[in-house]
Amino acid sequence: MVLANKLSTWQTLQQQYETEGKSLVMKDLFAKDPSRFEKFSRSFKTSNSTILLDFSKNIINDDIFKNLIALAKEAKVAEMRDKMFSGEHINFTEDRAVLHTALRNLSNTPIYDNGEDVMPEVNAVLEQMKQTSEAIRNGTWKGYTGKAITDIVNIGIGGSDLGPVMVTEALKPYAKEGLHAHFVSNIDGTHLAEVLKIVNPETTLFIIASKTFTTQETITNAVSAKDWFLSFAKEQSHVAKHFVALSTNESAVSAFGIDTKNMFRFWDWVGGRYSLWSAIGLSIAIYIGFDNFHQLLQGAHEMDNHFKTAPLEENLPVIMGVLGVWYNNFFDAQTQAILPYDQYMHRFSAYFQQGDMESNGKYVSRSGDKVQTSTGPIIWGEPGTNGQHAFYQLIHQGTKLIPCDFLAPVETQNPISGGKHHDILLSNFFAQTEALMVGKDEQAVRAELKNDKSIKSQEQFESIVPHKIFQGNRPTNSLFFQKLTPATLGSLVALYEHKIFTQGVIWDINSFDQWGVELGKQLAKAILPELTGAGEVKSHDASTNGLINYYKANKKN
Ligand code: F6P
Repeated sequence: MVLANKLSTWQTLQQQYETEGKSLVMKDLFAKDPSRFEKFSRSFKTSNSTILLDFSKNIINDDIFKNLIALAKEAKVAEMRDKMFSGEHINFTEDRAVLHTALRNLSNTPIYDNGEDVMPEVNAVLEQMKQTSEAIRNGTWKGYTGKAITDIVNIGIGGSDLGPVMVTEALKPYAKEGLHAHFVSNIDGTHLAEVLKIVNPETTLFIIASKTFTTQETITNAVSAKDWFLSFAKEQSHVAKHFVALSTNESAVSAFGIDTKNMFRFWDWVGGRYSLWSAIGLSIAIYIGFDNFHQLLQGAHEMDNHFKTAPLEENLPVIMGVLGVWYNNFFDAQTQAILPYDQYMHRFSAYFQQGDMESNGKYVSRSGDKVQTSTGPIIWGEPGTNGQHAFYQLIHQGTKLIPCDFLAPVETQNPISGGKHHDILLSNFFAQTEALMVGKDEQAVRAELKNDKSIKSQEQFESIVPHKIFQGNRPTNSLFFQKLTPATLGSLVALYEHKIFTQGVIWDINSFDQWGVELGKQLAKAILPELTGAGEVKSHDASTNGLINYYKANKKN
C-alpha cells in the first residue's frame, strides 16, 4: 500500500505530463499516425456480443499509454483484483469480502468467504428468484382476491433502488406487456403517494429492498405502503401475498411482518451499489423475465473473466481506469461525463453517480493517512442528444476539461422511419467526439464567416471571430456495442465497476465502504424529534436553528 504519488511511474507520468503530455494535440497525433485508431481501440468479444472501446481520442501517445499501464501494474491492480475475486476481506474497514462477482459467477467455481463456499447459497437464491419471478409473470402467484399481479413496486433507496431502476429502464424492450414496474425511494411522501394513486392493492406486489432493513426512508415508505394496503385488504394474513423482502437482515424482516419464506437473502459481502446482481435484482427478474436476468449476469460474468485474465494493456476496465487517472490527477479534471446515445440508458450515469462517487469519494488512504492526490471524479451526464442542447456548450468552450464517455448501440431497438432516427442520433454521436477533438481554429472561423451575409461590417466580423473558435483537444472514449441486450448491459455495468475498482486501487483507497453518508443520517435522527417538540430549538448553530425554527413556525401539518 503506497500513496499514489509515491509510485515511481506516477512521478514519471508527472514529468511526462509537464514535458509533453499537456501540450499534445490530438489532431496532430492523428495526422502523424494513420494507425492511431487501430492502436488505441480494443474489442471485448463474447459468444453473442462485442463492445468496441475507441480510446484514440485521448491526449496520449504510445509512451504515455505504456506508462499509464505501468502505473496500474506498479499500484498492484492485478494483485488486488485477484484478492477481490478470491474473497479476501479487502473492505477492511468493515472486515468484509467484496464478492459481487460471485453473484454472477455462472461458471459456478467455488468462491470462499471465511472458508465457506458462497456459491451454493448464491445459486439457491437465484433459484428462488426464478421460481417467484415466473410465478408472478405466469399469473400463478395470486393476490388476496385471487387476481394475478400486474404491478410491482420496489421500495428501496441508493443501491437498493438505482440499479433496478437503471436496468428496468434500459431493458424495457424485454419487459412483459401488461406488467408495470414502479420505484419508490425518496422519503418525500410525494414519491409513494404518486405510485399509490395508480396501483391497485389487489394486483400489486411490494418489494421491500434494503440490505440492512433499517434504512429510515425505506422502512418508513414500506410501513406506509403496508398501511395503505391493509386499508383495503383488512386482514394481516393478506400481507404475505403482497409483500416480499430483499435483505441480509432476517430478524428485521420478520419484525416488519414479512414472512421469511418471502424473503430473498443476500450477504454482507455484497455492497449496496454492487447489489443489482443479487436478490436486489428481483424487480428486474420479474420485469424482464428470469432468462433475461440470467443473460444480464452472463454478460457481467464475461466481463469479469476479461478483467481477470486480459493483459492490462488489453483490459478495458484498466484502460478506462488509467485514462481517468491521467485526466483527474495530471490535468486536474474535476469531473467525468457519461453520455449514452441510447434513450433506454437514461439512468446509466445517475446509476454510476452512486457507483463511482460512493466508492471513490474518499480522502483517507488504505493506510489511514490523508491521500496526497485527488481521488474520485464527479460523475454526471444525460443521454445524447438532449445533453447537446443543454450542457455541451461548456464541454466544448468552457474553461474546464471534461473527459467524456460516449456510449451507443449500432442497432436501435426502435428502427422507426426506416432507421432514420438512429442515423441522425449516431451522426450526432460521431460528430460530437470529432468536434471535441478537432475543434475549429481561427482560420476556419474566418473562412466560414466570410460567407455570412448577415455580418454588416469588418468591426462586427472581428468581434465575432473569437467566440466561434473551438480549441478542441477535449478527450473522449467511445463505447460502441451492437445492441442494448441484457448481456451487453451486464458487460457494460461490470466494465464500469471494474474501472472504478482499478482507480480505487491506484489511489490507494477503500472503494467499498461509505462512512461519508453516515453523519447526515445521524444528525437527521437527532433533529427529527426537535421538529415536533415544543419551544424554540437552540441546540445547533445559528443557521440550522434559524431554519428549523422557521419551519416549525410555518408548518401546517
Ligand atoms: O446511503 C448509503 C447506503 O448505505 C448505500 O450504500 C446503500 O445503497 C443505501 O444506503 C441503502 O441501504 P439499504 O439497502 O441498507 O437500505
